[in-house]
Amino acid sequence: MKAIILAAGQGTRMRSNLQKVLHPILGKPVVQYVVEAAFSAGIEDVTVVIGSDGDDISTELGRVYPQIHFAIQEKPLGTGHAVQAGIGRINDDDDVLILYGDMPLVTGEFICELKQMYTANNSDSVVVAAHQPQFSDFGRVYADANGFFQEIIEYKDMKPDSPVVEWINTGIYTFRGGALKHGLAKMGNNNSQREYYLTDVPKIIRDNGGDVRVLHSRADLTMFTGINTQAQLAEAVGHMRVRINDKHMSNGVRMIDPATVYIDDTVEIDAGVIIYPGVILEGICKIATGAVMGANTHLQNTVVGERAHIRQSVLVDAVVGASTEIGPFAYLRPGACVGEKCKIGCFVEVKNSNIANDSKVSHLAYVGDADVGQKVNIGCGVITVNYDGKNKHRTIIEDHAFVGSNANLVAPVKLGEGSFVAAGSTITKDLPSCALGIARARQEEKLNWVKS
Ligand code: UD1
Ligand code: CA
Repeated sequence: MKAIILAAGQGTRMRSNLQKVLHPILGKPVVQYVVEAAFSAGIEDVTVVIGSDGDDISTELGRVYPQIHFAIQEKPLGTGHAVQAGIGRINDDDDVLILYGDMPLVTGEFICELKQMYTANNSDSVVVAAHQPQFSDFGRVYADANGFFQEIIEYKDMKPDSPVVEWINTGIYTFRGGALKHGLAKMGNNNSQREYYLTDVPKIIRDNGGDVRVLHSRADLTMFTGINTQAQLAEAVGHMRVRINDKHMSNGVRMIDPATVYIDDTVEIDAGVIIYPGVILEGICKIATGAVMGANTHLQNTVVGERAHIRQSVLVDAVVGASTEIGPFAYLRPGACVGEKCKIGCFVEVKNSNIANDSKVSHLAYVGDADVGQKVNIGCGVITVNYDGKNKHRTIIEDHAFVGSNANLVAPVKLGEGSFVAAGSTITKDLPSCALGIARARQEEKLNWVKS
């Protein structure tokens, strides 16, 4: 089977500058989920139809899946017209799956179910209808008592006397290639929107004596959520969140309150991880077993080692080693790479720095552009002075060094192994191994100064 996925519509109802199908849902654009559903149903030949302004779609999808074919629909004249634009790879004896690029919740298993019905009956087309008694902006599917397709009426073309049916058009179809081409060639645009509707094609095939059936699906309606508006996008995010969280919980991840947890589809989490309320995990994150993601922790593209514990912190493009404690209220910025059994405490910011095992930066410090060795203690209020207004410079702190509170380390500078910086010092010269560095004004006492 080959697939054609339609993604060339203008998406005007989104009122957004971003192409409709590129809006993100938990780490991936809407249309990527649709493509992945086709792939997971075993369909390898996928054409995505994009508009003449669809370069962003082909760039973004092509980066992840270079095997996808793209076809261009010059003008968005309707879903049938879009299929015509994407028909190039379809032979008469091919089986074709058609999906709309704005329905990210459709699953590979469901597509397999459809394929089965289509092949079992040797049909020319199967249209998927879902049960929706309430009003909605979907087209309505009419079938006869034997489940044979009659017609689809778009909601905009409904007449006051149109018979009420509780079955909506999901926008998922299979076709025999030859029948599809025949139907497309005959389709017109005599409707309220002056568009060439794909929904007219099954009727043309049926009128020509073809076998066209309806798969009346009782699957949860969430699977067929189409995204036309920002509200529907938010709704789809909600459904996807539940799906992703359920997957992790069934793999053994413990969530205290999954309703408040947002995990991108690109995140990997081992069994035995505990996730507190309000956690957001975005991009390519990997969380190893035994790690704890404390309340309101926000990670982007971050790797967390076994048994690490992160509380109320923000981590971006960072690496946290096993059994390390982070936070509360720490900020690890891009390139922060913290080793095992470390402690990065309250109001500590780390950027573009390596901190080796067993080191501690417990309170109120800035570590930027630094290489910190093992078993180093960085006291409260320590600052790496990494920027001179023009360039960034590195600070090197070797193993076992001790940096007293409120020290400034003016980079480029190196603290040798086992060296000791006195509290309050501004260090501007390299410190040899095991030396004490003290750089501060001597204390004076003015006796009885307060009373005089
Ligand atoms: C469509 C169906 C409707 C169905 C609903 C399910 C038609 C005429 N109507 O309505 O019966 O209930 O989906 O969600 O098919 N597109 C193009 N080129 C175009 C027009 C659209 O590529 O010229 C793409 C869009 O990018 C979108 C998809 O086709 O991904 C569906 O188009 P949309 O305008 O969203 O159709 P609906 O009004 O939702
Ligand atoms: Ca739609």
